[in-house]
Order: sequence, then C-alpha cells, then structure tokens
Amino acid sequence: MGALFTPLSIKGLILANRLMRSATFEQAATKDGEVSPKELALYRDLATGGVGLVVTGIINVSEQGRISPKQNSLSHDGHIPGMARLAREVHDQGGKVAVQLFHAGREAARMHAWRGGGPAVGPSASPGDDIFAHENRAMTQEEILQVVEDFGRAAARAREAGFDGVQVHAAHAYLLSQFLSPRTNRRQDEWGGSSDNRLRLHLEVLAAIRSQVGPDYPVMFKLGVADGLEGGLPLEEGLKAAELLARAGCDCLEISQGLRGHDYQQSEFRTKVDKPGGEAYFRSWAAEVKRRVDIPVAAVGGVRTPETAEDILAKGEADLVALSRPLISEPGLPARWRGGDTGRARCVSCNKCFEQIMLGRSINCILDREKAEG
Ligand SMILES: Cc1cc2nc3c(=O)[nH]c(=O)nc-3n(C[C@H](O)[C@H](O)[C@H](O)COP(=O)(O)O)c2cc1C
Repeated sequence: MGALFTPLSIKGLILANRLMRSATFEQAATKDGEVSPKELALYRDLATGGVGLVVTGIINVSEQGRISPKQNSLSHDGHIPGMARLAREVHDQGGKVAVQLFHAGREAARMHAWRGGGPAVGPSASPGDDIFAHENRAMTQEEILQVVEDFGRAAARAREAGFDGVQVHAAHAYLLSQFLSPRTNRRQDEWGGSSDNRLRLHLEVLAAIRSQVGPDYPVMFKLGVADGLEGGLPLEEGLKAAELLARAGCDCLEISQGLRGHDYQQSEFRTKVDKPGGEAYFRSWAAEVKRRVDIPVAAVGGVRTPETAEDILAKGEADLVALSRPLISEPGLPARWRGGDTGRARCVSCNKCFEQIMLGRSINCILDREKAEG
C-alpha cells in the first residue's frame, strides 16, 4: 500500500488515513428531526470501519432549508445534546467526525408543500423550468443575510456539540450551488451577475462561520465546480471559486458537481462506475483544484478500488479520497482494505439506496435486502 493509510492534518486535526466518508443523508432521524438509535448505530459502524474522517449527512441550518422531516438539524440550541451523542459515538471508537451544514434552497419545495408553507426559496424565482418542476420565489436581501447568520450559528453549535469540524454543502443543486450557477442565479444585485457576485454567499458564509468558531477550527467546503447540464456553471468559474475560497481561509475542499442534469449520468452519483473509465469520474476536477490551492483537497465520485484511490494520491491529484455509496453497503471497507483484502467495493452503484431516500425511507443497501430475503 502507498499513501492511503498514512495520516493527514486538516488545520491541526489529525486523520489516521486518507479515506473520508463523503456526506450521506440517511433519513434516519426521528420524525421530529432528532438523533435516533438507528443513526447512533450507523455512525458507530462507520467509525469502527476505520474511515479517517466521517462527514455526517446534510444537517439543516434553518427550518427554511430543511428537506425532510427525518433530517437532523443544528438550527437551535435544543439540538446540541442529541448531536453531541452522535459525535461521542464516533469519538468513542477513535474516529473523527465533521458536520455537513446544509440549506436546500429551492430543493426544499416538496418539504414546504408538505408542511403547507409557501414556496421554497432560491436566488431567483424559477417557476417550472426544465430541470425543476416546482415553483420557488427569489430570496430577499434580509433572507440572504439570515442564511449567512444561520450557517455561522449552526457551526458554533457543531463545535459546542464536540464535532471535529464543519463542512459547508456547496454542491449538488442545493442553495449554495444555486447561487453559484448562472442557470439558477439571475439576480441583478450584489448576489448575482458576475462570478464574483455569485460566489458572495459562499464567502460571507465562510466569514460568518470563522467568526463563530475561531481561527483554529477546521472549516471545509464540498464545492460543485461545474454543473451537470448545459448553460450551467462552467468549470473555469468553479475552479476560480475554489481558489478564492482557499484564499479566504477554507481549510479543505471536496470537489464535486453543482446542479444536476436530467439523469444519473449528469448527477453526482453516476452509475456505470464498473465500466472502463467509469471510476473516479470527477478526479480531473479535483486535480485541477489541487494545482491551484495549497489546502487539502478531497476527490469524490465513483472510487471503488484501493488501486484507484492510491493512484489519485500518488499522482498528487488529491490528498483524500471520499466514498459515499461504498460505505452504505460496507462500512467496514477501509478496515478490509487496510487488512490486505483489497478487492473492489461491494457496492454496484445501482442507486437503489438513493431511490429509497426518495421514497421517504431510511437508507439501506439492496444487496443487504436481497440477502435478508434469501
Ligand atoms: C443515498 C445518498 C445520499 C447522499 N447524501 C448526501 C449528502 O447528504 N450530502 C452530500 O454532500 N452528498 C450526498 N450524497 C452524494 C455523495 O456524498 C457522493 O458525492 C456521491 O454519491 C458520489 O460518491 P460515491 O460514488 O462514492 O457514492 C449522497 C449520495 C447518496 C447515494
């Protein structure tokens, strides 16, 4: 083995190895959005499975940004004790864990409709466009400033709950991606128009978090550096955004996609990963970012073998390799690889795990369901 099982420091946080659990929404909170026994068991399994850094699934920073009733939150102090139990569960097994801070923006439309509230919010009103069936309204200036504050305060709660760092979700069609993309951000004020203006929310969120958590706490971003559809964010603008975030004090960048297109091949969770050339489908984007910044970079998307992970590290394309679906199917995969059983991940990238989430169920792997059914 090469570098995969060597330590890495992110702003003084020492990770035992270069494998990261990419944030994965489990939809396993209680119906009131509190930490459940099922979640504690999931996180215990991830920690004992040996991954260097666990990133939680999406944790909403405000009720406005919530996407599901069974989603955890750090929108007020009452959530701190439950989230502290989750952090402890990982720490008790010797693991490290960061919170992924999240606002769904217009993707909260179904949740808003279900609660009987008004339309969801986004940078610009975009009723019934071709990639999004729901109506949403444009955020006011006051609402944008409120979101900035909500991210800052949620980060402070994450720190108080004992987490080792935070990661801002700025990818995958959610609020920050919506602001960065010219396709969904058609504002004429200081939050829209030029690429600098479309990145303003990211930089303000970073500054608000930093002022809440202090200079020594790891603040990371998962950044969509290009959209999966025409007329979306061009890669060059996404790379510039990565550079500006690093310069502004972000401590680690995980590189993924922004808005999704029409099918899985235009999404962040592509299928056909087993085909030649299908593995590690965003590695060239991570490599481009890595060339431009001097903070740790994580590559995510379709990594399924230790050979590919080692190759990414050996070529200096990234400092960490992040996995989502493989760890749903096999939380003990890092320990297996480390122990010398280096066969490819059991995950077949069928996306049935994601389809369960869309049906309102909590996360599971179809290979386990098939096994249980005999
Ligand atoms: C069921 C499911 C839930 C996910 N939840 C999140 C999430 O909460 N936050 C996030 O940033 N990405 C989420 N993702 C995307 C993954 O983190 C990852 O970027 C993507 O699946 C590609 O990596 P993989 O090939 O290792 O699965 C999710 C993916 C799946 C399949």
